[in-house]
Amino acid sequence: MPAILLAVTGTDPQPWADRLRALAPQRDIRLWPDHDPADIAYACAWHAPRGLFARLPHLKVIFSLGAGVDHIFADPDLPDVPVVRIVDPDLTMRMTEYVVLHVLTYHRRQRLYDVQQRERVWHEHAQPPASAVAVGVMGLGVLGAAAAAGLASLGFRVAGWSRTAKTLAGIECFHGEAGLEAFLRRTEILVCLLPATPATHGILDLKLLRKLKRDGAAGGAYLINAARGALQVEADILSALDEGSLAGATLDVFAREPLPVTSPLWRHPKVTITPHNAAFSDPQALAAGVLRQIERFEAGLPLEHVIDRTRGY
Ligand code: NDP
Ligand code: OXD
Repeated sequence: MPAILLAVTGTDPQPWADRLRALAPQRDIRLWPDHDPADIAYACAWHAPRGLFARLPHLKVIFSLGAGVDHIFADPDLPDVPVVRIVDPDLTMRMTEYVVLHVLTYHRRQRLYDVQQRERVWHEHAQPPASAVAVGVMGLGVLGAAAAAGLASLGFRVAGWSRTAKTLAGIECFHGEAGLEAFLRRTEILVCLLPATPATHGILDLKLLRKLKRDGAAGGAYLINAARGALQVEADILSALDEGSLAGATLDVFAREPLPVTSPLWRHPKVTITPHNAAFSDPQALAAGVLRQIERFEAGLPLEHVIDRTRGY
């Protein structure tokens, strides 16, 4: 039977191997670097070593072990096989939790109350209703649309921005270059859930952050980036915080991960950092979906969630 290679760096592939073997004991599962290239038909990848895929002569499909595929397209020698990404309610719900948590943290002034508690200060700040606060979600795909719906269900005024036009119940939809300015001008809390592609690289820069609405009910403009570090210009985020264009930033992703200990972001009082765990890819929940796709492929059915290479996502 054609073998599956877990081509993983930067995280432990063993839980994936254990889960795949438990669900499909008949499958031959290998862990990079321990494999014979000629045996491999499927690669399950997370930051695989560059050039590895091109050295697998019988490779049929590459599966990303996450929703994002930028780590696969970073390989300049990518062979011409389908690239499939994870779309799963478990992953989607985790991201919605993250976005809702951090939007509410700003909306409910939780960081102020944390400081007050340390100083034993009993002081109540004015609390606007969610319906007075404008949240904007960049990226209205699987994760962005779900997060936007979750925020709208809490009463926030939610808008979204995507490449192509969308109609989503309860969400004000903007799209394309032409829609970006108006989307930003009405947004107080900006959530980024765009994929990293050449078109989105560095999009979260000072020019963009300065367009956010600062005089609304949220009491300033905030950024939550749970997408990719490549989208943000970290020096510009620091400048925006220092000049007041931003009142706070929550960052789950960074240009370099782990975030170097020397980064000024770590100690900035207005920055919240999480270690790229907004939506963990849990093999317990997700391995079955990868196996189901392999079964579909072997049965001659079309693969699902195949990446369009020209768009890069
Ligand atoms: P999707 O492919 O489903 O959605 C992408 C969205 O971004 C679409 O709405 C798309 O527009 C929009 N988009 C893409 N390019 C542009 C552009 N140039 N201008 C405007 N809009 C654009 O992706 P997901 O929602 O599943 O995931 C989004 C990203 O989240 C992933 O690529 C990954 O990088 C990140 N992620 C981060 C995780 C974490 O733990 N931090 C976990 C999981 C994912 P359109 O609808 O018009 O195509
Ligand atoms: C993903 C991620 O892309 O975890 O799924 O970043």
